[in-house]
Amino acid sequence: MRKERFDMKEYVMNTYGRFDITFQKGKGCRLYDDKGKEYLDFVAGIAVNALGHSHPIMVEAIKSQAENLLHVSNLYWNEPQLKLSKLLVELSGLNSVFLCNSGTEAVEGALKIARKYGKQFSEDKNRVVYLEESFHGRSMGALSVTGQPKYQEPFNPLIGGTESCPANDVDALKEIMDDNVCAIILEPIQGEGGINVLPDSYLKAVKDLCNKHNGLLIFDEVQCGIGRTGNMFAFQGTSVEPDVVCLAKGLGGGVPIGAFIANEKADVLLPGDHGCTYGGNLLVSAVSEAVINEISKQEFLDHVQKMGLYLKEKLHGLSGKFTSIEEVKGTGLIQGIKLSIPTKPVVAKALEKKLLLVGAGKDVIRFVPPLIVSMEEIDGMIRILEDVFKEFDEA
Ligand SMILES: Cc1ncc(COP(=O)(O)O)c(C=O)c1O
Repeated sequence: MRKERFDMKEYVMNTYGRFDITFQKGKGCRLYDDKGKEYLDFVAGIAVNALGHSHPIMVEAIKSQAENLLHVSNLYWNEPQLKLSKLLVELSGLNSVFLCNSGTEAVEGALKIARKYGKQFSEDKNRVVYLEESFHGRSMGALSVTGQPKYQEPFNPLIGGTESCPANDVDALKEIMDDNVCAIILEPIQGEGGINVLPDSYLKAVKDLCNKHNGLLIFDEVQCGIGRTGNMFAFQGTSVEPDVVCLAKGLGGGVPIGAFIANEKADVLLPGDHGCTYGGNLLVSAVSEAVINEISKQEFLDHVQKMGLYLKEKLHGLSGKFTSIEEVKGTGLIQGIKLSIPTKPVVAKALEKKLLLVGAGKDVIRFVPPLIVSMEEIDGMIRILEDVFKEFDEA
């Protein structure tokens, strides 16, 4: 017998801890709920809406592509996929692109590259190393390299041959590494893990160890890539070039797309090795190309850098006023504040005051606004946050 339901929400699988708000409209950095109330959005779909909401460039790209053709199989070529791939190769300096639908899929593809790369040398070269506090997605493969027990444990056993290592600990990595490692996967800035920027010296040491043991270096830039650091790719702000880069989120600015880009060494997948029905279809590729054309302009990236510095200054100002803010972390428009008090009530109180924020890790509040955010909007966010912290610090 079917159960009786009293609310439309009961038809949806209960996998998210959601706030009871339904959004209906967005413009720039503002969202509007079904009661017409306006919110300032510093979540941006968790680093997705890089151009904000309803950006005319995206609206135009969606309309004009929808009028022509949405989808054909990857049995055939399509021009938007070709143009987007060329753009991503030229901007990254890597060799070739596979387009998929999400960050998780991008990571899955990168893991398949790693395994196939290793097999060229020996059947035993199949170990994949990942970092504690990382987040790479929730499929069985991506979960197997996600260094957070709370996500992994309910689903054990995961795929074999993966091993975690504490982040930013070169000695620990040296211990783990050997010639049977086919890849190391890491986020240059750990997003979900709490906005942990991995220092350049560490990334260099990782790269050296990869070189020493002939392993691939995979950067998961799903959250921190596509202009968010003020560089087109996060690795371009470091002195290290990865062999594979995983992308999603800002890549589509709101349409579902992911990608992995490989350099020549890692370009090992052949026909039949990998595929994706929707991957690189005309609609998402055309929109993504429009988004990337905009974000990759130097003046756009300069804006992100400038807003990033401004946000940092303002967050430091705030932390000077409230003892519960212990640290300001991050760079560009991927920043966070580490709190000595629980983050959830702070996020909930900000929401009451019409500011959207999202936590990261166990004690960080994350700021990943649309990259088009203005100084006035940062000021507005800080004003609300100041009101919020007044309630907690003086409580
Ligand atoms: C660094 C990183 N990798 C992978 C993922 C998974 O991406 P998706 O949710 O698009 O599958 C995320 C999502 O938050 C992420 O932040």
